[in-house]
Amino acid sequence: MKMKELLLFLACVLSVSADALHSDAHINGCSDSDGEDVYTLDGEEVAYADFNKKEEIYPQPPFIDPMTYQEGTYDTAVADQQTCRVTMKNVGKGMKDYPPEQDVPSAVMIYTRDEVEFGVLNTLICHVTGFYPAPVNVSWTKNGQKVTGSSINVPYPNKDGTFKQTSRLQFTPQLGDIYSCAVQHLALTQPLTKIYEVDSSARSDPGVGPSVFCGVGLTLGLLGVAAGTFFLIKGNECS
Ligand SMILES: *[C@@H]1O[C@H](CO)[C@@H](O)[C@H](O)[C@H]1NC(C)=O
Repeated sequence: MKMKELLLFLACVLSVSADALHSDAHINGCSDSDGEDVYTLDGEEVAYADFNKKEEIYPQPPFIDPMTYQEGTYDTAVADQQTCRVTMKNVGKGMKDYPPEQDVPSAVMIYTRDEVEFGVLNTLICHVTGFYPAPVNVSWTKNGQKVTGSSINVPYPNKDGTFKQTSRLQFTPQLGDIYSCAVQHLALTQPLTKIYEVDSSARSDPGVGPSVFCGVGLTLGLLGVAAGTFFLIKGNECS
């Protein structure tokens, strides 16, 4: 087996505080065709190196106080990629180009970020896990047509050494629309596809469900109090 064909993904977790409330991790890894360098907090991306845009990206949601790492973080990531590739080459030699393991994704899940309401902007999520090596490609369709504009996070290592990745697509639910996410991976001969259909179980009149539920609960509660009071008075009358 040639070195070129050897796709070995080395990932090293540099600092993880075990058995603590939170885990802060820096993960960097490389393969012949890919590489990643990401800082995470409790599994969420804080910052990652975008080797296409050649800069550090901070994909934090708008509700947190923005933070950045020191200048040169991206350049360090690039240097670490070099080290990773050299290490990988040496490991390949040491193991006599022993073919690396390949695991097909063990699960692909499709779901929405928020409860579905017709006409209200939402996010479709395609979560892929259990694969090795990283990464996967995820493509989306709507009613059979390819759609663009989805995003995917960098691979995150599972405890068993496999990886997981999540792709997101913004969408506005309309009754009858059918979405799919198709996952491509080195170890798959054909894409793994999951379907999401916007069906009539979606809410079209927001707020009615919870308020009916609350109203019924409140009524039952008041009935209980009334019955309790009744028996309390009754009991006192007898004694
Ligand atoms: C993912 O897509 C890229 C670009 O189209 C391609 O080069 C690569 O082989 C794909 N990877 C997999 C695992 O299919």
